[in-house]
Amino acid sequence: MADIAVIGAGYVGLTTGTCLAHLGHNVTIADIDEIKVQELNEGEVPIFEPGLSELLTEGIKNGNLKFVVGASSASRNAAFHFLCLPTPPNPDGSTNMEYFHSAIEEIKDILPPNSVIVNKSTLPVGTASQLKKQIQRTDVEIVSNPEFLSEGNAVQDFLHPSRIVIGAESQEAATRVVALFSDIDATIQITGTASAELIKHTANAFLAMKLTFINEIATLCELVGANVLDVAEGIGYDPRIGSTYLQPGPGWGGSCFPKDSASLLQTANKAGFDFELLEKAITLNTAHLQRTAQKVIDALPEGKEIEKSKIAVLGLTFKAGTDDLRSSPSLAVIGYLLDLNAHVSAYDPMVNLPIEDMSKIEITSTAYEAANNADALVILTEWEEFADLNYERIHEAMCHPVVVDARNLLNPQDLEQQGFQYIGLGQ
Ligand code: UDX
Repeated sequence: MADIAVIGAGYVGLTTGTCLAHLGHNVTIADIDEIKVQELNEGEVPIFEPGLSELLTEGIKNGNLKFVVGASSASRNAAFHFLCLPTPPNPDGSTNMEYFHSAIEEIKDILPPNSVIVNKSTLPVGTASQLKKQIQRTDVEIVSNPEFLSEGNAVQDFLHPSRIVIGAESQEAATRVVALFSDIDATIQITGTASAELIKHTANAFLAMKLTFINEIATLCELVGANVLDVAEGIGYDPRIGSTYLQPGPGWGGSCFPKDSASLLQTANKAGFDFELLEKAITLNTAHLQRTAQKVIDALPEGKEIEKSKIAVLGLTFKAGTDDLRSSPSLAVIGYLLDLNAHVSAYDPMVNLPIEDMSKIEITSTAYEAANNADALVILTEWEEFADLNYERIHEAMCHPVVVDARNLLNPQDLEQQGFQYIGLGQ
């Protein structure tokens, strides 16, 4: 079993480190936030991720997992150094590498001989070779091992992955990293570092384009009287297309798709390639988010001015099963409504505090409270519990019983029977 340092205790670092400890490795996770480190050592997990808390407690108890402050404290005695640091976007969409460069500066001279640095975060193509130059250590290899962790399912995705991609310039380093995952039953693909880096960005950009495509088809369905759910089912039977990632929604978002597609576009620009298809998918997604907001405005009772209306929102997180609000489509749609001075009251099972920069949103503790005196209700995140609400009660609470279901979560007939005007997406 290997001595592993994981630098960064965010979603990726915590999942990676905790799961590697579960596989039997001796893992030290480092973060710069002292309070977070102290809480983690006491078994408190700062994020909502099913299964993570149990494995983290197991790791602390059996001694395989510990948390320290600062990258060098973790890296000093480790053979592998998993970099799981933030990669926020620069204003032009390219990846901000500040966290990576400072972590590398901190650890490069104290890395034990023959260490392997493993880039887990999503990084622009060419990063591994740049870092190799930065460290100036011939005995240290840099390997790219991108994560394919979907929030809300991250532990499962780590332990039962669709594939493990390892990009390395040295066969020996690749073999050593492969050995870390020997207890996981998965296809292992070994490539060069550039290809591994590009695989991650390409996967996310491709999925984002697939979603833009089905959202565009949803709009077309509305114009020609077809149902996008039937169309998605019909094309999904074709294994060349596949049935997943075909759920139309208010627009895609989250901590990865927007950032990664913008970064890939920048990579293409820098390489002198005009990646029109990807650029269009990004602008069409913005247009789709706006279209979703317009649907809500159009659903208001005739003559009701937007600035005098109250809109109830169900769902704030970027998808169900997470507490993450980063680049949430829901917040983007709400942003358009707030710009028009609508009053927005919102309920989300995972959010109970005011949202930074969006303090105008009134956060309620139940869906019924949010619906009180509302002129329209819109579902923006597909939490299952929204399907089980007492819609009779919601009907009574609202001023104008109209539901815009931007996730196609509810049964239109049921809602219509209860006296609602139901507006789905692409149906
Ligand atoms: C994604 C990738 O799936 C994961 O492999 C990668 O490592 C990180 O980025 P995540 O950001 O957790 O994971 O979210 P994901 O479940 O992929 O959803 C992204 C966005 O697409 C969300 O806004 C979601 O609501 C939307 N979506 C997804 C749809 O609108 N319809 C779908 O059918 C699927």
